[in-house]
Amino acid sequence: MKLRFCIPSLLGVEGLIADELRFLEAEDVAAENGRVLFSGDETTLARVNLCSHFAERVQIVVGAFHAASFEELFEGTRRLNWEDYIGREDAFPVKGYSLKSQLFSVSDCQSIIKKAVVERLKEKYGLSWFPESGPRHQIQFSIFNDEATLLLDTTGDGLHKRGYRLRQNGAPIKETLAAALCATAKLRHYHTLYDPLCGSGTILIEGALYAHNVAPGLGRHFDAERFDWMPREIWAREKERAVSLEKTDTDFVAYGSDIDPAAVAVARENAARTKFADKLHFEVRDVRDFERRSERGTVICNPPYGERLMTPEDAQALYRVMGQVFPRTHGWSYSVITPDEDFETYFGRPADKTRKLYNGMIKCRCYMFFK
Ligand SMILES: C[S@@+](CC[C@H](N)C(=O)[O-])C[C@H]1O[C@@H](n2cnc3c(N)ncnc32)[C@H](O)[C@@H]1O
Repeated sequence: MKLRFCIPSLLGVEGLIADELRFLEAEDVAAENGRVLFSGDETTLARVNLCSHFAERVQIVVGAFHAASFEELFEGTRRLNWEDYIGREDAFPVKGYSLKSQLFSVSDCQSIIKKAVVERLKEKYGLSWFPESGPRHQIQFSIFNDEATLLLDTTGDGLHKRGYRLRQNGAPIKETLAAALCATAKLRHYHTLYDPLCGSGTILIEGALYAHNVAPGLGRHFDAERFDWMPREIWAREKERAVSLEKTDTDFVAYGSDIDPAAVAVARENAARTKFADKLHFEVRDVRDFERRSERGTVICNPPYGERLMTPEDAQALYRVMGQVFPRTHGWSYSVITPDEDFETYFGRPADKTRKLYNGMIKCRCYMFFK
């Protein structure tokens, strides 16, 4: 079946998602602010859920229409072909948000949409009551500037939940953002990766997955695995395809360190849940004593921002230390994500490139030094 999809994206990551989708053979890819749209079929659905490093979730665009009143929202929703996706016994909860629109009560929109889908399915299935005892088909809506988009989630738990991070330290970076940093730094399978403020080890683990082209979703499940119109064999075939594209026998190695022994213990545990346990090395160490163990290296880190973990002054002092221990040396690159707009001043040199990225709601920049 021909499907139109939507991936909600962390701000700043849309371009990376769009490139990744083209690589995964999606069609009509269009990056917008905070989301990326694309087309494909059931195979695309499974492939993107399994293989995307940067996407938050994969949704089917069931329809979009103008809705400035409850009548328009009800009629617009009822006109959509829900029966193509939702069976007579399936559960179909509704959630969503409304911004800058006349319909601002989310709970009212939620119940209108639910009623409209029920009406549609009653008509199509000749039923008066739905048990909703089957697999979850999460309906999501967004109403923005009076334009409603109705989506069906295919993912379930967010795609950042890869399955390896059961424990985390104080301020962990989201897996999808860590992967985006690795892509931005052009990390490859022959590189040596360092994170001297590694916390729970997310950047190194995501780096290993990204550099080896390992599909992050291989160790988890997706809601659409239980959709009865999704052929079971597609999942098996796509998993096999993903594994066949992994890079093996590489020289990749990664070194993580942190001043906090508890964080290092968590990082080790997380790494042990991946297939890269023997390539990821962790130790307790102050970044002040950063040690280069290879001729060339790619350093990627997410230091404290002076918000949750430290005072701003302590964070700035740390940025000065980083400027001293990350020297400009041939074969070495450094990427640091922080919201501090004066980071380059503390670090002691202007970045060769920066990229705007949001860490949750915090507007950050990734400062890259590679010349
Ligand atoms: C924002 S957290 C990093 C989170 C990590 N990316 C993750 O996903 O869990 C910053 C880390 O810097 C560590 N840290 C603070 N000061 C340090 C220092 N002087 N040397 C090394 N690590 C330090 C903290 O213990 C904390 O784990």
